[in-house]
Amino acid sequence: MNPNCEKKPAVLVEDLTIVSQREIAPRIFEMVLSGSMVQEMSVGQFLHLRVPDPSKLLRRPISIAAIDKRGEEATIIYRVEREGTAILSRLKAGDKVDTMGPQGNGFDLSVISSGQKALLIGGGIGVPPLYATAKALHDKGIQVSAVLGFANKDAVILENEFSKYADVVVTTDDGSYGIKGYVSTVVDNMSEDFAAVYACGAPGMLKYVDKKFEQHPHAYISMESRMACGMGACYACVVHLRDKSEAANKRVCEDGPVFETGSIVL
Ligand code: FAD
Ligand code: FES
Repeated sequence: MNPNCEKKPAVLVEDLTIVSQREIAPRIFEMVLSGSMVQEMSVGQFLHLRVPDPSKLLRRPISIAAIDKRGEEATIIYRVEREGTAILSRLKAGDKVDTMGPQGNGFDLSVISSGQKALLIGGGIGVPPLYATAKALHDKGIQVSAVLGFANKDAVILENEFSKYADVVVTTDDGSYGIKGYVSTVVDNMSEDFAAVYACGAPGMLKYVDKKFEQHPHAYISMESRMACGMGACYACVVHLRDKSEAANKRVCEDGPVFETGSIVL
């Protein structure tokens, strides 16, 4: 069991202050937030942000990309999809964001020890939550390899940042940067044994990782799902367990977003 589940902090709601916001790639924004909630955050968790518009009743879930507990700052990186994220992208330094969290169980880093090797597999806007994970693993003395896939050169983010903590290989679907192909092009040719594997990305990529590392004892995927309450009460975000002997439904917001490979019906 993921020990993060056992000591999950209570859900907090706090007006976090925007320290900075900038566009780091077309339609992709990095927002740095500050507040005491940062002390409770761990890698792989997400924040549930209220969009400051009365017509947007549901909060928007966004993963935590970087955590600086000493400075009480956390970074999120998000792509503008439609109105909610577009409104968030227009907020400025000094504005407040009504934030619920930190939510979810996060990545279990206790399964791997100093000197061992970890593999991170990220796709597109699924790459940011792995950045905090790369740093945390590196700080534990783990050798980190990261395979990061993007649609094209313009969409590539965080390559330099990852390079501080990991051996990085970038792939692009169209070959405009790095290796042409999907992350599988690289991962399928890796011969090393990794003590743990952590993945976040689009459903197709997660399906690949889930199958490839189905039998791996410590391989994890971070799932997305439409959410309403974001705190385990409404069951809007349910996914189904493959093993029907356990309670068949799991809530992505509360029991996830991170699940072991081979455990969820994808
Ligand atoms: P709209 O389509 O107008 O949103 C309408 C409703 O659908 C909202 O309630 C919205 O939250 C929901 N919704 C839309 N797309 C998604 C989606 N892909 N997943 C879940 N709910 C969705 N995006 C990032 O860019 N960066 C991240 O780090 C990130 N982390 C996420 C972590 C989790 C656990 C989940 C579940 C989603 C994450 N997403 C992330 C996706 C992000 O929540 C959606 O892109 C965003 O909510 C879209 O809002 P919108 O108002 O622009 O779009
Ligand atoms: Fe309500 Fe997950 S969103 S239970």
